[in-house]
Amino acid sequence: MTLKNLSMKKKSHLTAKTANKYDLYEESVQNVDFEVEFISKIYKRKNKIKCKSIREDFCASAKISSAWVKDNKNNIAYAVDFDQKILDFAKTSFSKNMSKDELDRLKLIKGDSLTKQTAKVDCVSAFNFSYWVFKERSELIKYFKNAYKNLNKKGLLMLDAFGGYEAHQELEEKTQYKNFTYCWDQSSFNPITSELTCYIHFEFKDGSSIKKAFEYNWRLWSLPEIRECLLEAGFKSTDIYMQGWDDEKEEETEEFSKMTSCDADPGWIAYIIASK
Ligand SMILES: C[S@@+](CC[C@H](N)C(=O)[O-])C[C@H]1O[C@@H](n2cnc3c(N)ncnc32)[C@H](O)[C@@H]1O
Repeated sequence: MTLKNLSMKKKSHLTAKTANKYDLYEESVQNVDFEVEFISKIYKRKNKIKCKSIREDFCASAKISSAWVKDNKNNIAYAVDFDQKILDFAKTSFSKNMSKDELDRLKLIKGDSLTKQTAKVDCVSAFNFSYWVFKERSELIKYFKNAYKNLNKKGLLMLDAFGGYEAHQELEEKTQYKNFTYCWDQSSFNPITSELTCYIHFEFKDGSSIKKAFEYNWRLWSLPEIRECLLEAGFKSTDIYMQGWDDEKEEETEEFSKMTSCDADPGWIAYIIASK
């Protein structure tokens, strides 16, 4: 049996006991190749030059940073998270699949994205809605001001957001992967504060599960609120990119287009690009 076979065999017997929740998160939630391409494409379109340096806020296992330094030998990345456990996981997985040169161009930094200072970069990213941990307007603006401070002259802050009427509902959505089921649980929503509590659960073929593998306590910010806070923090302008829809397949496409108005879909995902 080859090594590859062995690891595939191991994977197909995934259970709550044998699975690593960070691996499952990467497989089910993240699409870092898309995000690396998106950062490069949008920065080039805006500034007519290549984006070389990024800071990945709320980086978790710093997957984007790792794909970024692999994408080009001149690329550098700073990855910031305040959870030592996830940074240790990132470090261990990097040691298995990154060269010394790649590792030299990626700095894992333990710190609070709200206040941490790093070298100035071309792009700061905060994806998978992580900045929604800031529930007060003043705190959100403080975070945007910190991102602004850590950007080069023509730097871009890239964020994502979701919305639509489904975002205000308490619901569970399951997606089947080869060896596990991913479950997105919008457990509670308070219309008075727009506070949202969500969980990710993982379920396995043997009936076992990892309940509440991840918990998120967020404020569901609207696009106009986010844009207003970005301008107040000092950004010159903001653009919204909405996800495309394939009428024939009746599913979202991987294309995001700059828009100023769009349909009131039940659920949508957007990227927000703020220019310094
Ligand atoms: C939603 S997850 C990570 C999302 C990841 N960026 C992605 O694209 O999938 C949120 C991460 O943010 C980190 N985090 C939350 N608040 C933070 C803060 N104020 N500063 C730094 N990291 C923070 C958590 O430790 C966790 O690893």
